[in-house]
Amino acid sequence: MRGLRLLLLPLALLCAAAAAAPIRFQNSMAQRTLACTSCHGSEGRAGPDGYYPRIAGKPAGYLYNQLLHFRDGRRHYGLMTGLLDPLSDAYLHDIARHFASLDLPYPPPQPPTAPAEVLERGRLIALQGDAERRIPACAACHGKALTGVVPNTPGLLGLSRDYLNAQLGAWRTGQRRALAPDCMAEIARRLEPEDLSAVTAWLAAERLPANAKPVSPEPPPVARKKGRRAQPAPAPEPPPMRCGAATPPPAEAAR
Ligand code: HEC
Ligand code: HEC
Repeated sequence: MRGLRLLLLPLALLCAAAAAAPIRFQNSMAQRTLACTSCHGSEGRAGPDGYYPRIAGKPAGYLYNQLLHFRDGRRHYGLMTGLLDPLSDAYLHDIARHFASLDLPYPPPQPPTAPAEVLERGRLIALQGDAERRIPACAACHGKALTGVVPNTPGLLGLSRDYLNAQLGAWRTGQRRALAPDCMAEIARRLEPEDLSAVTAWLAAERLPANAKPVSPEPPPVARKKGRRAQPAPAPEPPPMRCGAATPPPAEAAR
């Protein structure tokens, strides 16, 4: 496995440097991804300055899609792509599942810097959208509490404002792309610059709820029971737009 060796290289250097207290190599996923956490913070809980995003606890499908995006050129960060280039879909999926399974506390949000009326505009866009400008509520896809929905939609809280601005800006210019239909590219382009800035100001300042985990999608309406007259169950709100995502690799591939 060329990829595995590549991930291990920084670890080998690290071990050499720490010869006085050598790290015992257990070949766990946590150790194999030390190259990742050197940027993404301990266990993937984000770098200190808001530039390296948190990856711990995000939905596995979302993380897997991002690793494919970087490897296949739909997102760009050269230093990271170099690590991902040689890795197979199955291995990227294992890495995604590893980080998704981590349940780590979040730091408190950044204190808000925008004026109250800007924050209020941001809150409305996030929770209700703006029908006139054809902007769906972020919460319609990212979850009522904005903590994400498994498998493919990430949470929007616990991210720095700089990171959020950079991502939405990159979608507007085509620097960041997702698989078709790329719903976020469409939404980012529909957001006026002042609305984009308002929604990221509000999101970055919002405290995470006690349960910050991504939720399951709303269940489908309850099926009719035989012999009884069922009440017509209200159908869950369909997502306002369709979003593309990769199919996970078959579990046993490449092992
Ligand atoms: C040299 C620093 C660096 C290394 C090493 C690195 N990353 Fe990243 N990673 C970044 C930066 C910076 C971004 C954000 C890039 C952007 O703005 O789109 C990022 C983004 C990501 C994202 C997307 C996060 C999101 O919320 O969309 C994932 C997932 C990720 N990295 C996983 C990994 C994994 C897994 C590894 C190890 C194989 C790794 N990274 C190694 C710097 C790094
Ligand atoms: C129709 C569903 C949908 C709606 C509505 C939606 N999103 Fe998204 N969003 C997604 C999906 C799916 C992804 C993951 C895309 C990918 O694979 O890169 C995503 C990703 C994101 C990301 C990247 C997060 C990261 O960690 O890099 C940001 C930021 C974002 N959305 C912001 C917003 C904002 C702000 C709104 C409201 C104005 C919004 N989204 C509305 C579906 C949606």
